[in-house]
Amino acid sequence: MHEVILSQYKSLKNEDLKIDLTRGKPSSSQLDLSNDLLSIDIETHTQSGADIRNYGEPFGINEARKLGAELLEAPIENTIAAEQSSLLLSYQYLLANYLYGLNNKPWKEIEKPKFICPTPGFDRHFRMLDELGIEMLSVPLIGDGVDLGTLKDVLSQNQNVVGIICVPRHSNPSGDIYSDKNILSMFEICSKYSSDLVFLFDNAYLIHDLPNAPEQSSIWSLADKANVKDQTLVLTSFSKVTFGGGGLAFCAAGDKSLFLLKEIRTSMVICPDKVNQMRHVNFFKNKENIIAHMKNHAEIIEPKFKLTSTVLKNIPSECGNFSNPTGGYFITYTTSKPIATKVVELCKNAGVLITPAGATFPYGYDPNDSVIRIAPTFVEAEELQKAIEVFAASVQLAHFDIEI
Ligand SMILES: Cc1ncc(COP(=O)(O)O)c(C=O)c1O
Repeated sequence: MHEVILSQYKSLKNEDLKIDLTRGKPSSSQLDLSNDLLSIDIETHTQSGADIRNYGEPFGINEARKLGAELLEAPIENTIAAEQSSLLLSYQYLLANYLYGLNNKPWKEIEKPKFICPTPGFDRHFRMLDELGIEMLSVPLIGDGVDLGTLKDVLSQNQNVVGIICVPRHSNPSGDIYSDKNILSMFEICSKYSSDLVFLFDNAYLIHDLPNAPEQSSIWSLADKANVKDQTLVLTSFSKVTFGGGGLAFCAAGDKSLFLLKEIRTSMVICPDKVNQMRHVNFFKNKENIIAHMKNHAEIIEPKFKLTSTVLKNIPSECGNFSNPTGGYFITYTTSKPIATKVVELCKNAGVLITPAGATFPYGYDPNDSVIRIAPTFVEAEELQKAIEVFAASVQLAHFDIEI
């Protein structure tokens, strides 16, 4: 068997492949779905008379805020329609907490502030927190959200935990959909610890469902139920709905968080790009059309996820297991031995780039060296097939310690 794996790997390597599976990007056929945005006609004024070409409307035009409010299921008064990137809103919120703080307790004045980071998670979240000097405490995801027992333990062992950052639907990269119960318990546990602890929900994959994705209550309604709206921020964006970096970002925030965002944004942006907001409003018109548009995305993505799973199934189960997401952009392979770094290196040597091992953990350190993020959406099927075959051979070479 070892010879077969070795010869598969070598023959793929000889093909001189150059395939990049490192980032979760839409493919060009997905981008084509929004091409009408490039030439859409728009009015110069909103219904309320605001001139979209000029400064003004710092929280976005009403028409765009309404779309965001419908998606996030939050009141329009609590919803901001911003510019191209939800990460920017996240960073602005973190920075505002750092400089001003909820309830006038800025994090910069707190000794060694800490954040709960469900893992595996999104490397850019870890980067932002690290840049602000916030210590990151990992809590594992267990399929339907965070491991509540570990969350309790971590909170009881640490002082000055100021927040938690979650991707509550189709989490990057595990695919977890947090159950309502998990979110409500998380609110309860964290609020008991501190009434100032902030909940940042990066709902980047809110509407990125494959068929049969489970329902989930809106985060806003759960925050309302748990009475934690003031310290909650829920974000989403059109980055993987229309154009990466050319969409809109939205957030819903309770009054205190909204105030903080307003403060920080006033120093940074006089107003968002209302021209692009109007383009998106005219393109989509309402939530139903956005959901229909996402079904078209799913039709392109689903076969790629299926192809990936079909090849991964051929890896002997003793080598590891993989996630079966119902949406989002990633499949996670977890090796049973501590070989993730080795697998990524073997893939690279055969011309296939995978997200660096450890990248999905704070400080780039996966304590078990076992989690590998696979991003199948960007490349076309033929290349994807080759890339996952390289991956499957690499896992087996590393697991069975086969010499090359
Ligand atoms: C969890 C998560 N948040 C945010 C982003 C980036 O979103 P945006 O382009 O709106 O900043 C991504 C993109 O991969 C993501 O996976």
